[in-house]
Amino acid sequence: MIMNIEKLIHYAAMAPSGHNTQPWKFSVHDNQIRIHPDFTRRLPVVDPDDHALYISLGCALENLIIAARHEGFSAKVNYFPDDEEYLEVKLTEESSEDDDELFDVIPERQSNRSLYNGESIPDSHLEQLTNVVDSSSTTLRKFYAGHEDAEHIISLVKEANRIQFKDRGFVDELISWIRFSKQEAVEQKDGLTSEAMGFPSVPRWLGKMIIRKFATPEGEAKKCEKMIRSSPVLMVFIAKNQSKKNWVDLGRHFQRAALMATKLGISHAHLNMPCEVESVKEKFSGFLNLKKNEEPLLLIRLGYSKPMPKSPRRNIKEIIKTD
Ligand SMILES: Cc1cc2nc3c(=O)[nH]c(=O)nc-3n(C[C@H](O)[C@H](O)[C@H](O)COP(=O)(O)O)c2cc1C
Repeated sequence: MIMNIEKLIHYAAMAPSGHNTQPWKFSVHDNQIRIHPDFTRRLPVVDPDDHALYISLGCALENLIIAARHEGFSAKVNYFPDDEEYLEVKLTEESSEDDDELFDVIPERQSNRSLYNGESIPDSHLEQLTNVVDSSSTTLRKFYAGHEDAEHIISLVKEANRIQFKDRGFVDELISWIRFSKQEAVEQKDGLTSEAMGFPSVPRWLGKMIIRKFATPEGEAKKCEKMIRSSPVLMVFIAKNQSKKNWVDLGRHFQRAALMATKLGISHAHLNMPCEVESVKEKFSGFLNLKKNEEPLLLIRLGYSKPMPKSPRRNIKEIIKTD
C-alpha cells in the first residue's frame, strides 16, 4: 500500500484542542494509524475528567479520516481496542465516499475569537451545519441572539466566567498555556498565542502581570457578553452519555460542523465556560432539560468576521511515537 502517512498525520494534527495543548501522539503499524492521548498535556483544572482531551482526539480522528478518504482510502475505526488507550484507524484501498469539500478547508478552519459583525446566518446554511451531526452520540441545539433562551445562556456564561477568573488554579493553568511573545510561540508551537487571541506580543513577565492585574472576573464576563452579542447563533453540543468513546464521537461531529461552517464562510469560537464549571453545568443541563446521562460539553458561537492569525502546531516528528 503506497500512501503518505505523514501527510495524513499532518492533517489530523491541524485539529483544534483545548488551550491548543495538542494532546495527541500518533503511531504507525503497517496499514494502521493509532491516535494516543498524551496525558502530559492534560488540563487538570479546566478539564479534570479529560472530556475535552478526548473531544480533541475525536477532532484529530475526523480530520485523519477525511484526509484518508481524500487520498482514496477507506478508514475503519476501532475505539480503544482491548481496553487499550488508543484509537485505531485501519486503512484499506477501497474507495469510499469522499468528503473533499471538508478536506479542502481543513487548513483554513480556525477558532475565531474576534467580535463578529452581527449579520444573521441563512437557515439553509444552519441546516447544512446541523446535518453533519449524527444523532447516535451527540445532540445539537441552536439558539438565536435576542431570544429569551440566548439571554439565559449569556447569564450562565458570565456566571461561569466569573467563577473561573476568581479561581487562582484556573488562571495559573491558563497563563501556563499562553504564549505571550512571538518567540515563545515559535519555540513551543502550541498554546494560546497573543496573535490568535488578538493581543499584542509582550514579554512573559509583562503578560502575566497584565492577566493577574487586569483580567478581573467582572471585566472578563463583560468581554464575553460582548462577544456573544455579536454572534447571531449559539450551538450546544450535548453528549448522550459520559464515556470516552462518546466524547471522541462528539469531537468528530463537532469537527465536521466546524469544517462545514468554514466552508460556508461562517466563523466559530468556543464559550465552554458553562460546560466547565460543575455548579453552572448543572444549571445549564436543567435549562436544556437534559436526561440523567446527557451532558452539555461544547457551547459555540457562530457568525461572520475577518480571519485571525492561525494558531501554531508542533512538528510532525514531535508527535509521532517511536517506542
Ligand atoms: C475540546 C475543546 C475545548 C475548547 N475550549 C475552548 C474554550 O473554552 N475557549 C476558547 O476560546 N477556545 C477553546 N477551544 C479552542 C482552542 O483554544 C483552539 O482549538 C486552539 O487554540 C487551536 O486553535 P485553532 O482551533 O484556531 O486551530 C477549545 C477547543 C476544543 C477542541
